[in-house]
Amino acid sequence: MNRARTAVLISGRGSNMAALLDAAADPAFPAAISLVLSNRADAAGLERARAAGVATAAVESRGFRGDRAGFEAAMQAVLEEHAIELVLLAGFLRVLTEGFVRRWQGRMLNIHPSLLPAFPGLDTHERALAAGVRLHGCTVHLVSPGLDEGPILAQAAVPVLPGDDADSLAARVLQQEHRIYPAALRWLAEGRVGPDGRLRDAPCPDPAAALRNPPDGP
Ligand code: GAR
Repeated sequence: MNRARTAVLISGRGSNMAALLDAAADPAFPAAISLVLSNRADAAGLERARAAGVATAAVESRGFRGDRAGFEAAMQAVLEEHAIELVLLAGFLRVLTEGFVRRWQGRMLNIHPSLLPAFPGLDTHERALAAGVRLHGCTVHLVSPGLDEGPILAQAAVPVLPGDDADSLAARVLQQEHRIYPAALRWLAEGRVGPDGRLRDAPCPDPAAALRNPPDGP
């Protein structure tokens, strides 16, 4: 089987990267994680990737202050060196230029800790709590120019519980991130994702099913 050569881009601890590595450890998984690339040489996730025997690289964004095109050209060179076909942003905290996004359009995914289009940007859990939403969650989307924008591929919702703080809510959402990101990579690598983000051959969810919080009473 020809497995899609995939790069995971990180800036920090890399728990989503680790979930992707775990999924791709199965030789039957249609994508191989061929590179973990970070914009910070001290990202904890790099160590974890090395320990798993995966090639790593760092292109320090700090070295390119005010020169986003130069930073992205350096990243593109590394991606080409490793013959990368798919790019997964996993806690990669740099805004990408339209040129870079267009180059990878249809082949680049992002995971975001909210039910987009609600709460793009940072501090999503704090903002969800402040807004008083009863359901929160995470989204995997194809990357378009624009912050946390692009056709949605997968979402998972979790309840916001009484007594939640940003940390407890983040932990509940993160569990779902680790579930839906490998699934989305599988679908993309299998060529099943249309330009609108929908699976061409998806089984439809039960139209009567709903996630409710609070659930129905007796
Ligand atoms: C994740 O929650 C991811 O959804 C978020 O950063 C965290 C990275 O954690 N991404 C964004 O906020 C992108 N807008 P991880 O390094 O443990 O995967």
